[in-house]
Amino acid sequence: MTSVKTAVRADLLDFTADPGLADLNSPAVRFRPDHWLLTDERGRIAAVQPHEPGDDFLKLDRRGQLLLPGFIDTHVHCPQIDVIASWGAQLLDWLETYTFPAEARHAEPEYAAAGAKLFLDALLSHGTTSAVVFPTVHRSATEALFDASTQRGMRIIAGKVLMDRHAPDNLRDDVDGSEMECRALIKDWHGRGRIAYALTPRFAATSSDAQLAMAGRLLAEHPGVYMQTHVAENPAEVRWIAELFPSSRSYLDVYASHGLLTERSVLAHGIWLDDLDRALLHDSGAQIAHCPSSNLFLGSGLFGWREAREAGFNVSLGSDVGGGTSLSMHRTMADGYKVQALAGTKLSAWALLHAATRAAAVALRLPHEIGFLEPGCAADFCVWDWAVGSVAERRHSVARELHEKVFAWITLGDERNLVESWVGGLRRYQRI
Ligand code: GUN
Ligand code: ZN
Repeated sequence: MTSVKTAVRADLLDFTADPGLADLNSPAVRFRPDHWLLTDERGRIAAVQPHEPGDDFLKLDRRGQLLLPGFIDTHVHCPQIDVIASWGAQLLDWLETYTFPAEARHAEPEYAAAGAKLFLDALLSHGTTSAVVFPTVHRSATEALFDASTQRGMRIIAGKVLMDRHAPDNLRDDVDGSEMECRALIKDWHGRGRIAYALTPRFAATSSDAQLAMAGRLLAEHPGVYMQTHVAENPAEVRWIAELFPSSRSYLDVYASHGLLTERSVLAHGIWLDDLDRALLHDSGAQIAHCPSSNLFLGSGLFGWREAREAGFNVSLGSDVGGGTSLSMHRTMADGYKVQALAGTKLSAWALLHAATRAAAVALRLPHEIGFLEPGCAADFCVWDWAVGSVAERRHSVARELHEKVFAWITLGDERNLVESWVGGLRRYQRI
């Protein structure tokens, strides 16, 4: 689809480099107040400039509003909208009681297709334009997600969930069948439009050695394909993995020994890691999708962001809905701040915002496409109100400098602040 050349006038904010964890005055912050963002017919960013462009652009005046790259949610489950905010369980009970029954319903193609559309529209209405997504074990549900992503032009990385054991009958696959389906899905979808395929073993408990090895083989055969899974989320889960894989040094080592740790691997949580695991993450170039809302809601634990930084591995942010309780990256960032406050680390607004934009783009090896307001990148961006409601408006009005304003925006804001979401130069969400 061709886009109309558009110019949006607003306060532009993004990052040119990593701002660190706690530097409030980092030079990596690029704030361009009252600038024009120009998009071209291919849906890319053409330029950013302080002066008004010519009349060949459709011009939109968003003065006094913030314009940011669309958020990147690096860990979220499409079918789990149906179980968000389910009461009273930690991870393993929560999977059995709520999640597996809900995912089984996605065997029905029409149900899955409706769910995929609702999910993607919900992402867009929360300011998230790119995501790394778990659908279900079903091939048809995975295709429904890819179809709906294509219709919206979104950068989505996803793949059929692999689970050949320790799951209900109606959610289990097997090694040969899942290999055939993955091969077909990679052939049909990987690199088509803005879709990338991710081999998706749910977690080490639900895949046999043979299935993990199959995923490792496919990953090696298909450079450019991603891998996503969960690791070291919950203490009972970690003990179970140690029983299931007695010869592995650690939970993370199960994935490493099956060839599943690459620079395109996205592992959710990583709370219960040791120094050797952290070194392995650094050496492999993999990333941890830190999911603070989920970690608090399911009582999983506190992620060691400072330790991650010291080890030098990539950290991005995931909502982990439905373990997480909101698709909002505002809520995710605000919970990330609180988790680090408990862990004794003060995160800057820049560290949080960077993790939800540029850090994720870099770790996904997509900095030429998403996470920046840079000519050549896809025109995936969102316009936000600085404040909604009397309390946030008051707080914003008394803030003296940019970090204070942005930190209040993260902490007090949410999807109600979102004015519009643009994907590939087309407006895909507008507040009414
Ligand atoms: N570990 C295995 N499956 C899941 C899931 O669906 N959500 C979370 N948070 N952890 C998991
Ligand atoms: Zn998850």
